[in-house]
Formats: sequence, C-alpha cells, structure tokens
Amino acid sequence: MPDTDKVFAGSIPKIYDEYLVPMIFAVYAEEIAKRVAARSPSTLLEIAAGTGAVTRAVAAALPRGIRYVATDLNEPMLAVAAQRQANDDRITWRQADGMALPFGDSEFDVVCCQFGAMFFPDRVKAYGEVKRVLKGDGTFVFNVWDRIEDNVLTHEATAALERLFPDDPPRFMIRTPHGYHDKAVIRGDLERAGFRDISIETRSEISRAPSAEYVALALCQGTPLRSEIEARDAGKLQAATDTVAEAIRARHGSGPVEGKIQAIVIEARL
Ligand SMILES: C[S@@+](CC[C@H](N)C(=O)[O-])C[C@H]1O[C@@H](n2cnc3c(N)ncnc32)[C@H](O)[C@@H]1O
Repeated sequence: MPDTDKVFAGSIPKIYDEYLVPMIFAVYAEEIAKRVAARSPSTLLEIAAGTGAVTRAVAAALPRGIRYVATDLNEPMLAVAAQRQANDDRITWRQADGMALPFGDSEFDVVCCQFGAMFFPDRVKAYGEVKRVLKGDGTFVFNVWDRIEDNVLTHEATAALERLFPDDPPRFMIRTPHGYHDKAVIRGDLERAGFRDISIETRSEISRAPSAEYVALALCQGTPLRSEIEARDAGKLQAATDTVAEAIRARHGSGPVEGKIQAIVIEARL
C-alpha cells in the first residue's frame, strides 16, 4: 500500500465529513453503536475514528460516566471530529497509530473501529494491539468494506477513472478500502492475534446522495483518491471529478442517486 493511501489531510477531512459520511458511513456507524451499547462498556477505545461518525453514534447510545478514548492516525481528521463534538466530557481525542496503541494492558471493555482495518499495513499486529489493551472479557467490534463490485457507486467511479487514465488508473478504492474482505483471511488474522470467539456477518445497505455531482465530489476529493489523481496530473482533479459525475449521471439520472453498499461486520472476543 502506498503511503499516500493513509493520508487524510489538507482538504480531505472536511469534504469527507460533509459528503462521504452521510453517503456511506453514517448507516454503519449506527450499527456499530448498537453493538457497542449492547456490551454496556465503562471504558471504550475507538481506533481510526476519522471525523467521528461512530463516536457521535456511540456517544448518543451510552450513559454519562463512561470513559471513551477516540483515536486516529491523522490529526486533521480528529480535529474535525472534536470540533463537531466539543462539549462531551466523556470523550478524549488522541492521535494514535492502530498498530502501536499508546495504552496499557487490559484498559478497555470494548474496542471499536469502523472501516479502519483495511488501512493497517500489518493487521495481525494491529489486532494483537487490540487484544493487549482489551480486558479478558472484552469485545472488539469492527467492520470492513466488502468487495468493490458490491459497492456500486464506488465501483462505477473507479471504472470511470480507469477510462480517463487508461495507462495508470488510480486504484486506491480497489487496493485499500475494498482490498480486505475475504472472511477466511479476516478470521485467520484475528486467530493469529489470539482471538477465539469470532462472528462475521455481511450487511447490505443503500447509500443515497442528492446528485451525481455530490457522489463524485465525495469520492474524488474527500478521500486519498484525491492525492492519487493529483499525483497523475494536479490540474486534472476537477476534470476527473466531472468525469465521474458524468458516468454516475449516465447510469442514475440527474436527480437523487441510490446505490447498494455492502460491508462485513465482525465481533471478536478472547
Ligand atoms: C475510511 S476512514 C474511516 C473513519 C471513521 N471510522 C468513519 O467511519 O468515518 C479510515 C481512517 O483510518 C485512519 N487510519 C489510517 N491508517 C491508520 C492507522 N495506522 N492507525 C489508525 N488510524 C488509521 C485514517 O486517518 C482515516 O481516518
């Protein structure tokens, strides 16, 4: 994975939060929140919290008096999250790499992570860190995107960019967000890290956006795909966004857009 795949900075965090979160992340954040709340944790760690989609959903579902540490590798993502949720004294925001958690052993009842595991270069190591900071009866709740073919709008956007850059297509979406969905591999990685009680489920939803232009802006400018397009030709970001909008419009029309999204939701215990 190129280093740029994990950089969510510059203009990305704001566009990510405003456009992409409502389109594809919020619905899965509600599901993670339900699963976390079902465990009634007193101490909770979130990894790869991004701009706080899950943090907001989980915080709304949990009582006063809990301790909730929300972390992410990229400080600019957390800055957006903290600004949106400034008045909740249960939450501490902290920059942290999921593969080297700055916490002691057995500190947390639950660790959660939404659409972050695909970004860890060494997942067994990251899961080993989760195991270390979890209490013996703790639970790790996380999700990953399923294959890109089951995530319709992202698939169509990637295909449109392949036509625009035929010699060297930007493949961020295939390689990273949609690059870790084999259930046997996920289970094997968790087992190698020491987890034993593992449940893995596929969850389909519908993503909705007001227009094709909205979808194109979200995907091309609110994710590290932006850096990949700019690396090919910095002046082509808007042209690439327009190309994707045109492709989405051709399939879904000029009004509101809908498309299937699919994720894999995992709970693991020791
Ligand atoms: C697709 S976003 C998901 C963000 C958030 N959980 C959500 O649901 O909107 C992936 C996140 O993983 C973070 N990330 C990438 N590599 C990481 C690492 N090694 N440790 C922790 N976070 C990481 C990125 O900064 C980004 O915020």
